[in-house]
Amino acid sequence: KRPFIIDCDPGIDDAVALFLAASREEFDIRAVTSVAGNVNIDLTTQNALDLCREAGLSTIVARGAAAPMLYPASDASFAHGVRGLGTVTLPASPQQEDPRHAWDVIYDEAVKAGGRLEIIALGPLTNLGILLTKYPDAARLIANLTIMGGSRIYGNQNAYGEYNLWADPTAADIVFRSGVPVDMVELETIFRAKLTSGDWGDLLACDHRVARLTGEIMRYKTERGEGMQDLITAKSDDPSPFLCDCMTVACVADPSIVAWKRCHVDIETEDGPSRGRTLVDFSPRPSGFRSCRVSMEVSREGFKRVMEEMFRFYEG
Ligand code: BDR
Ligand code: CA
Repeated sequence: KRPFIIDCDPGIDDAVALFLAASREEFDIRAVTSVAGNVNIDLTTQNALDLCREAGLSTIVARGAAAPMLYPASDASFAHGVRGLGTVTLPASPQQEDPRHAWDVIYDEAVKAGGRLEIIALGPLTNLGILLTKYPDAARLIANLTIMGGSRIYGNQNAYGEYNLWADPTAADIVFRSGVPVDMVELETIFRAKLTSGDWGDLLACDHRVARLTGEIMRYKTERGEGMQDLITAKSDDPSPFLCDCMTVACVADPSIVAWKRCHVDIETEDGPSRGRTLVDFSPRPSGFRSCRVSMEVSREGFKRVMEEMFRFYEG
């Protein structure tokens, strides 16, 4: 099995991403770590605990950073509902959070996994920025880090900034300079591979609590018509939401659905209209160092297939 950490800020799309990760039998999820992002850290931590319970995932849940490394805390509750899961309030899990900080748990698991640990980061990169600052040897212990974040063309927070990297560009900068092998699932690729309301009608037809919850949690975004944003190249007339984090987990679960291109990414860390921008550079670089791979295309059919597998898993 592949040892994983899921670092997240649930969050509507984080919630469905956790359901997906928990359904993959080849994933050994060593811990779920929370970070402040879509909503505050108390809520993202409680949501992580409650979602793990719904998914039947028994693993450590550890609390991460309450605010970005340098910037003040912000949230995206306008897009995720005041508690982060649309209008859904889950029954509280009896499980307590781990007493350690998220970054200490990640480090311990990285050491235990002896260089095999994979991380999927679905929120601001604060916990990873702290990890790499506190434990400089962590970089060579991480086999791969897949992030939902950044953009090649346009942002969703400002002209070029995608929310997760905009929220904590300082941490993102540390991560991209660290030498950790980073795969970046960027915004436009995700928008182009969106599942439509018709697809979701097929997927959610099964009779299981996770399918019902997925539908209820997603509804908040569908009703707000977020999936219809006119983002120049990804114009859509279908209101179903993008579920960025869920597609990111799907790319890790089935790498055949995504095409990557190696590149170098610098992060705009200054405050201002370009904050959080990912400068994606495909040009040959004199030093030869290229910090990551960026997603170029995700197969819509492939993504739908991965989601079908997920619902089949829960139906049993
Ligand atoms: C990202 O920002 C958050 O609001 C979502 O959960 C996703 O991780 C999309 O920009
Ligand atoms: Ca997220």
